[in-house]
Amino acid sequence: MNQRLTTQDTVARLAVRVPAASRVFMRHGIDYCCGGQRRLADVCAERGLVADDLLDEITLEHPLAEGARWDERPLGELVAHIVTAHHRPLDEELPRLLAMARKVEAVHGDKDPVRLHELAVLCERLFADLAEHMKKEEAVLFPWIVAGNGRSAGGPIRVMHLEHDEVARDLRRLHELTDDFTPPAGACVTWRALWLGLEALDADLRQHMHLENNVLFPRALAAR
Ligand SMILES: [Fe+2]
Ligand SMILES: [Fe+2]
Repeated sequence: MNQRLTTQDTVARLAVRVPAASRVFMRHGIDYCCGGQRRLADVCAERGLVADDLLDEITLEHPLAEGARWDERPLGELVAHIVTAHHRPLDEELPRLLAMARKVEAVHGDKDPVRLHELAVLCERLFADLAEHMKKEEAVLFPWIVAGNGRSAGGPIRVMHLEHDEVARDLRRLHELTDDFTPPAGACVTWRALWLGLEALDADLRQHMHLENNVLFPRALAAR
C-alpha cells in the first residue's frame, strides 16, 4: 500500500487514499481541500519542506488512522456522513461561536479594536454563507447526487467549488486575525474558548470541503 504513494501524487489524492494524511497536512499548514490539486513534490519545494520526509510522516500516521476510505464507500453513505458529521454539528456550533465573537469584541474590544471587530464581522458573514451553502447542498444537490444524477450536476458543483474557495479565503483571514489561533497573554476564558472553537472549525471545514471537492463531487460527476 505504502509503496504506491509517491511525491508525484497530488495532495488531494493522498488525503483521499490515506485519510490520516489530512492530519499531516494540517500540521504543516498545507491546503488539501480547495488547493489540493497540486503535486506533493511541488507544494513541498515551494515551502522548503522535504517531500520524502512528508511522505514518511504520512506513512507513519497511517497505522493510527481511523478515517474511512470514502472513495470506496457508496455515495449515499458518504453524503449521509457529510451531513451527519459536518453539517448538523454546525447548526449549534456557528451560533455559539458568533455569540462568543460578539462577546469578546464587546468586553475586550479596547485591547485589539480593529482585529476583534473584523473578526466578529467576518464570523457573522462567513457563518451566514455557510448556512446558506449547506442548505443548498442538502435541499437540491445531495438528493440529486444520491438519486444517481450526478453527471448532470456540473453547473451546481462548479458553484459549490467557488463557494468553497470563498470559505477557504475566509479561513486564511481567520488565521491572520487570530495569530493562527494563539490567544494573547492574559486572554479571558471566553476569548480562549473562541480561539479553540475557531481552530476546531477551521480543521472541520477543511475536512468537510475535502470530502466534497476531492471525493464526492468527482465521483458524482463520473457516476454512470
Ligand atoms: Fe457541505
Ligand atoms: Fe460544500
